[in-house]
Amino acid sequence: MITWNPALAKRHLRTLHDFTDEEMIQLLELAEALKARKDAGIRGDLLHRRNIALIFEKGSTRTRNACLVAAQDEGGNAEYLNQHDIHFGHKESVKDSARVLGRFFDGILFRGFRQDTVEQLARFSGVPVWNGLTDDHHPTQIFADLMTLRQNFGKDLHGRKIVYVGDGRNNVATSLMFGCAKTGVDFVNCTPTELLPNPDDVRYAIEIAQKNGSSVSIETDPKTAVRGANCLYTDVWVSMGEEAKQAERMRMLRPYQINMELCERTGNLGGDFIFLHCLPAFHDCETEFSKDTGALEVTDDVFEAPFSRVFDEAENRMHTIKALFVSAIGDPSKG
Ligand code: CP
Ligand code: NVA
Repeated sequence: MITWNPALAKRHLRTLHDFTDEEMIQLLELAEALKARKDAGIRGDLLHRRNIALIFEKGSTRTRNACLVAAQDEGGNAEYLNQHDIHFGHKESVKDSARVLGRFFDGILFRGFRQDTVEQLARFSGVPVWNGLTDDHHPTQIFADLMTLRQNFGKDLHGRKIVYVGDGRNNVATSLMFGCAKTGVDFVNCTPTELLPNPDDVRYAIEIAQKNGSSVSIETDPKTAVRGANCLYTDVWVSMGEEAKQAERMRMLRPYQINMELCERTGNLGGDFIFLHCLPAFHDCETEFSKDTGALEVTDDVFEAPFSRVFDEAENRMHTIKALFVSAIGDPSKG
């Protein structure tokens, strides 16, 4: 029997602040229950007759397909809407498109540039809206990250230390900071001074962490920041939409590459230690982008190491997005 807190019905996920700390744990527990049921070969029907719009202004492998499979696994339908195929923001305002799509669909997931687009969709569509990545936040990613941490370290994450090493002010770094603060994980953002996260966000995350008996801090020296870490996490150095910054980022972030030497400096290699990356990753020369540069934010030996959990993390995108869909628009009578 799959059950969930009825208070989660119809809720948006614009940023992680849309859920209380306790509700975040409830969503992770729901994702774990949905995974266990799928692993047992049982097909669900919780999204029967539910239609979900997926509006994408940026590319995606994981988020898009996680949504499609999550909906189909539970008897629902997800429709992929590419920005070039619909009038959204081009020939029709976001506000008008939101009001139209809200008449057809039971929920909308948006991936794109401006956080304000998510806010407008939530304000005007009349249906739950999930943020599948904007320039500022990537909240659905963090549910998968936390689920992976729980799979490796148990359900109580207090006392675990995660160090994010890389572009400290991007969407993933910001959402990860809030996700850790809300679940009691000690979080360090290790980044060059040019890429420090928004100070208001940091202050707020510190407040949340203090309430949860954990810590949030900023460091600039990776060699010292990683000491005692149970998890090193990184993301690309150049996020979607920032391609013009490529040369500058390569120069700034080269000393922040996660390699085996940095993993050894945690002091936990061979023990309670994992590597995470939201993906896609540049860990070898096998992409158009990295064919001349080779590995960038993480070396291939770390990416492929036994302690790397990046593909569990990717799989968990699907279970956690399913939990978000089910809790917001699912039919509890089909549990
Ligand atoms: N991690 C993540 O969001 O991947 P995609 O860009 O492939 O969706
Ligand atoms: N920070 C990256 C995350 C990709 C999932 C980007 O925005 O491109």
